[in-house]
Amino acid sequence: MKIPLLDLKGQFKTIQDEIEKAVRDVLESGRYILGPNVEALEEEVANYCGASYAIGVASGTDALRLSLLALGIGEGDEVITTPFTFIATVEVITQVGATPVFVDIDEQTFNIDVDKIENAITSRTKAILPVHIFGHPVDMEKLLKIKEKYNILIIEDAAQAFGSECNLSHDKNQPQWKKVGSIGDAGCFSFFPTKNLGGAGDGGMVVTNSKDVAERLRLLRAHGGNSSKYSYNALGYNSRLDELQAAILRVKLKYVDKWINLRRERASLYNELFSDIPLRVPCCESYAKHTFCVYTVKSPLRDKLREYLQTEGIGTKIYYPIPVHLQIAYKNLNYREGGFPAAEKACKQVISLPIYPELEKDKIFYIAEKIKNFFKRESL
Ligand SMILES: Cc1ncc(COP(=O)(O)O)c(C=O)c1O
Repeated sequence: MKIPLLDLKGQFKTIQDEIEKAVRDVLESGRYILGPNVEALEEEVANYCGASYAIGVASGTDALRLSLLALGIGEGDEVITTPFTFIATVEVITQVGATPVFVDIDEQTFNIDVDKIENAITSRTKAILPVHIFGHPVDMEKLLKIKEKYNILIIEDAAQAFGSECNLSHDKNQPQWKKVGSIGDAGCFSFFPTKNLGGAGDGGMVVTNSKDVAERLRLLRAHGGNSSKYSYNALGYNSRLDELQAAILRVKLKYVDKWINLRRERASLYNELFSDIPLRVPCCESYAKHTFCVYTVKSPLRDKLREYLQTEGIGTKIYYPIPVHLQIAYKNLNYREGGFPAAEKACKQVISLPIYPELEKDKIFYIAEKIKNFFKRESL
């Protein structure tokens, strides 16, 4: 049996008629960049997240970049973030002229260790950029306390966490669940095809509760001005979401909660099937509602396991093999191996297994059986 890490065609087939109609309608409308579908999607995503505004942009990377710029982050500023993330989280900090400052991760959630953040704050710290990695929310209740205490901005990288929720009250009797992205000063989503809500190409969105930030984002995504009048007040970018993506995403948004539940069911089944083997399954903290954009387990035998699964036709991926502080692109920051041990250990031990709403359960049983066989063989 061959089981790919992802099967995007499988999802398309389940909603093919609706997608084809949405695409045809856009093609026939003659409006291809920004337009009614982008506007409607912005409103729908803002409502979904419980945020006041949403601004569609060309990618998740641009959502982050433009958010930093809209919040006035630049030269001389420090932005605290995690070294265990996709490079885009960090590259945008550098590209706006600020300096990324890393804080190690929590081994359980793979997220930035919020308890270690205060040690990294200096007089130049302007913002914290937490990443809700794999779909597990960062402890935003704790982070909001730090924000208030030090008057620091928060830009959430929610690229992998569309639909994830965080309890902001920490009081079990009075939970206050809030969608990630809508909690900080700005929240950034990626519509890269593999995400919980993925388009048929690149796309991204920022959600915010600040009218001011929303207005600046709208300017920044369209060259800094009013393009129909050819008048520009600021330096901007070409980072617009297109109508085809928005129309496809609007169809998919209707299904996203159902798909998230199917992801959760599949994650629970994996967890159950792995209960008697030496594999660390993903945790889900009591303050978090995980959406399992990625299902990542941990084992010191990771490389051997991956090779074995490959020969058995099972697709896996390593998110991420190298922490950002040890990337050659960041050698100028002079971080050394050993600087962030939890992130470095994660990079050596993590392996992500197939997870998507359409993944048949018998395939999960099959994968678990193979993994059990692997560990049986290793223990002999
Ligand atoms: C954590 C994280 N941040 C940012 C991004 C960038 O998003 P995009 O690929 O849409 O630019 C991604 C996408 O893979 C991501 O996983």
